Amino acid sequence: MCGIIGYAGLSPALPYLLKGLEQLEYRGYDSAGVAVMDGGGARVVKSVGSTSRLKEKVSGQTFTGGLGIGHTRWATHGGVSEENAHPQSAGPLYIVHNGIVENERVLREELQSRGAVFFSETDTETIVHLVHRAMEEGKSFPESVRSVLPLLEGAYSFLMAHADPAEPLVAVHRGAPLLLGSCSHGVFVASDMTAFPGEVHSMIPLEVDDMVLIRCDGRFEILSLDDRRERKPEPIRRNPYAVHGKGEFSHYMFKEICEQPAMLDRILASRIRREEERLSVCFSPDAEKVLSGVRRIRIVGCGTSYHAGLFGKYRIESLAGIPVEVDIASEFRYRDPVLDPASDLLVALTQSGETADTLAALRMARDAGVPTLALVNAEGSTAAREADATILLDAGPEFGVAATKTFLSQIALLTLIGLYLASDDRLREREGKSREEILSDFLKIPALLDKALSLSAGVIDIARSLGEVSTVLFMGRGGDFPLALEGALKLKEISYIHAEGYAGGELKHGPLALVEKGTPVISLLSPDEKLILKMVSNMKETLSRGAFLISIGSERHQEEFSSVSSMSLALPDCPPLFFPLVSAVPLQLMAYHTACFRGLDVDRPRNLAKSVTVE
Ligand code: M6R
Repeated sequence: MCGIIGYAGLSPALPYLLKGLEQLEYRGYDSAGVAVMDGGGARVVKSVGSTSRLKEKVSGQTFTGGLGIGHTRWATHGGVSEENAHPQSAGPLYIVHNGIVENERVLREELQSRGAVFFSETDTETIVHLVHRAMEEGKSFPESVRSVLPLLEGAYSFLMAHADPAEPLVAVHRGAPLLLGSCSHGVFVASDMTAFPGEVHSMIPLEVDDMVLIRCDGRFEILSLDDRRERKPEPIRRNPYAVHGKGEFSHYMFKEICEQPAMLDRILASRIRREEERLSVCFSPDAEKVLSGVRRIRIVGCGTSYHAGLFGKYRIESLAGIPVEVDIASEFRYRDPVLDPASDLLVALTQSGETADTLAALRMARDAGVPTLALVNAEGSTAAREADATILLDAGPEFGVAATKTFLSQIALLTLIGLYLASDDRLREREGKSREEILSDFLKIPALLDKALSLSAGVIDIARSLGEVSTVLFMGRGGDFPLALEGALKLKEISYIHAEGYAGGELKHGPLALVEKGTPVISLLSPDEKLILKMVSNMKETLSRGAFLISIGSERHQEEFSSVSSMSLALPDCPPLFFPLVSAVPLQLMAYHTACFRGLDVDRPRNLAKSVTVE
């Protein structure tokens, strides 16, 4: 993971590096560091923690150099310490690195046996020592960088600077994203375009094996390992919903939860078309092309995106009658999935569009000739560029590490895909309604999300009751099962309380052994007549073992579930097809308030990062 940024130009580099690092913190915030080539040599400042700590450290100092590199770290090799923070160095060379050098141990041992002295536990340091050694053997700086690349195994990118500002800044892409952006005063290179200042209007996404030499006068040369490459700049489209800052909200996560009604309104307005008073679902021509005639859907994703994929399976299979298989991307890529280009469509779910395992799964399908569709939030991301077609989540930027509004957008879009693929007859048979009626119901859901948000007092009471517990179980059936998994993930990732989600019928197959007096069990109850009584039975099974039952259901069934629960929330009634979209809101709020009661850093939970670019 990690975020890297470099600048070579006519202006002082430091302010751009610091600003860029703040934008890149979603990739990791264990430590941060910069190196600026400042006339007489390199000046390096590093600190444990986020960029704000680094900023405090450099405040009051003047850095005039126009060439510099910066890094925000998510620790992989070596603990969180200043020694392991980047930039790492050897001789006159400084490096910031994203990704992993898999054969680091062998390289380190070989370098040490020939006298190299290491100051960190990082794999990064091996790269800079190798380049330094090549220079000592007489190669130029760029030639030395190029010569060590074949020795390094793994997917990574790095920026390397020489203490002499007359030397170029060297950027290398070997599998971790890197973008080049230029403007009137210089050239930027970074893991993500959000790190570029507003004056950068176009960018070049670098490709695997690109190596770029960047000079302070604005010239740059893109080379591959063995030839010169031409690339066409693309205009940067800044997200129109990119409202930065928390505004009046205490945390990004809370702001993002509250943005959901407006977000869903926007998504439905752009995806539900009204023509001559008839409603239908529409996507871009590319997306409609890959969806047409599909006979089997393979969904891949990680974390929350995987849970959204499971929800998609329930909805697409029932609405459209098309088989859907869902895989955790890191499993899919290392098993031997049987892929059929004639019938399959691979759908990659990813907020960031940069998750290493999801990208690998997408590439596997593409290499097998299977059409690919990416549901991504980050426009211009690798998944968006590499898939045959893209459906944007249109959630606006999500800064909280916990995915909230992007989950809602994913499950809404997967429901829309199910409705798009469904025949009119099947819809009538399964839902008892016409497409028209179902889509009209869907258009009313944003208002129900607003109502769900207004139930915050009840949610806060529940969160308070969870403040001191050590384990929470979530359960649900049908579309509520993936929600139970997601509710548990939200709670554990930001409140650090152990939580698990189960299908309602599964508890007695093992997890019930965990239930003792006072164990909180949170039940999700969509107003589905087929399932509601089954759920109530499952709840009673936990109750007889002493569970502290918390239930979230609809006003219609309040009687049934509140009579057996210690605490309950009754949400506005709506068709079961859409109910999990509404119940997602109190689940997110519950996790949020619990973490706040426990005094935790909600937007930056320990050990995590927003974008997981290593496998
Ligand atoms: O960007 P992606 O959707 O591919 O990210 C996948 C997971 O890393 C992500 O959903 C993660 O589980 C979230 N932190 C959960 O809130």
